Amino acid sequence: MAAPAEQVAAEIENLKVNGGAAGGGVQEDEEDRVTPWEVTTTKATGIDYDKLIVKFGCRKLDEEIIARFERVTGHKASPMLRRGMFFAHRDLTAILDRKEQGKPFYLYTGRGASSGSLHLGHLVPFIFTKWLQEVFDVPLVIQMTDDEKFLWKDMKVDEAKKMARENMKDIISVGFDPTKTFIFNNFDYMCPPFYENIVKIWKVVNTNQARAIFGFTPEDCLGKAAFPAVEAAPCFASSFPQIFGKRNDIPCLIPCAIDQDPFFRMTRDVAPRLKASKPSLIFSTFLPALTGAQTKMSASEPNTCIFLSDTAKQIKNKINKYAFSGGQQTVQEHREKGGNCDVDISYQFLRFFLDDDEKLAEIRENYTKGEMLSGELKALATQKVQEIVLEMQERRKLVTDETVEEFVKVRPLAYKY
Ligand code: TYM
Ligand code: TRP
Repeated sequence: MAAPAEQVAAEIENLKVNGGAAGGGVQEDEEDRVTPWEVTTTKATGIDYDKLIVKFGCRKLDEEIIARFERVTGHKASPMLRRGMFFAHRDLTAILDRKEQGKPFYLYTGRGASSGSLHLGHLVPFIFTKWLQEVFDVPLVIQMTDDEKFLWKDMKVDEAKKMARENMKDIISVGFDPTKTFIFNNFDYMCPPFYENIVKIWKVVNTNQARAIFGFTPEDCLGKAAFPAVEAAPCFASSFPQIFGKRNDIPCLIPCAIDQDPFFRMTRDVAPRLKASKPSLIFSTFLPALTGAQTKMSASEPNTCIFLSDTAKQIKNKINKYAFSGGQQTVQEHREKGGNCDVDISYQFLRFFLDDDEKLAEIRENYTKGEMLSGELKALATQKVQEIVLEMQERRKLVTDETVEEFVKVRPLAYKY
């Protein structure tokens, strides 16, 4: 049954207020643009995340909820959590309630493979997701949106599928547990329960709403307008009967960077109408581009990126050549005025990946005072990044096609419902 016109209008208004700017084209005057396909700002310090929280209508991950997370899980918050790299959420409280009450939930995240290998930015949600899998001990589903990349990029179906497969190997190398993790690519997993959820979502979101949320234009192909439902459907447990049986009352928690929020604002809006649970979310900031925090690290701009397939030498060269420095023009000036960590990309990389809080604080202090030079800071960042990438490469050597088969096999996971 169609909703009354006023109700639809009110919902569209609501979506616009909460997320219209994410759609692109709705608030052109905003300096920060964050959509699933574009992240830009004019500021060298990067996106204003506090403003984004207000604009998107999500909640800040404040000390109080982090303290509750630690109490409920019995785990100390990971560096990415306590340092604010994960900075916002939607309904995380509901997941913590369920954890406390011993009620089931699952984790859901994904990747749209547009490059042969993941870059350092993609590692952020996946490293964090692995940590959450250990902390919560719940099923994890990982969606590879090869269909999305087919629609958005100049790519053949087979190429998109192949890239998804290759990227699965990188993702597996993060260290997920195959008895607790199901990885799927949309082209191959499109089974009846999954498709039924997609069609149900299509039925309750009209094209005006989709345009308000995602900024689609009349020239966009039908597939683009249809795709968001495909990313939304894994939020519903009934898309995975092999894991959850007949249950549709098991909610998920989605760790991702904030650019993916539009999909899940839409999903949360439609969930009650599908008599399904709303997904909860936990959002990270963006690992900045090498060239500066005005953009996120993005695979479509190779000079902004460090790929997991880069050699130690390439990493060193890229950081030396491209990593934007918050240092001064001359050594003398640097010693006098000190460096600016807030715009310095080498420092930002260390903030994401150096686990040692004390060492990080020491680096910040020395650099800000001018005691540490840009070259020294770049060397520290290079060393840390090389270490992470090498570790991933070592693990990836052990990932074979058989390993991938193990993760993509449609099967129950190590949990009973
Ligand atoms: P994709 O492939 O663009 O990105 C994969 C994940 O990495 C995050 N991300 C970043 N995080 C930190 N710094 C960066 N520079 C950076 N760049 C990307 C993204 O937010 C995402 O979490 N449509 C999705 C695939 C997808 C998905 C999902 C993602 C399907 N279902 C559920 C998250 C949750 C995509 O193309 O992601
Ligand atoms: N791009 C690499 C190649 O074509 C494969 C690859 C992807 C890779 N991700 C990786 C290799 C991570 C090592 C580590 O060979």
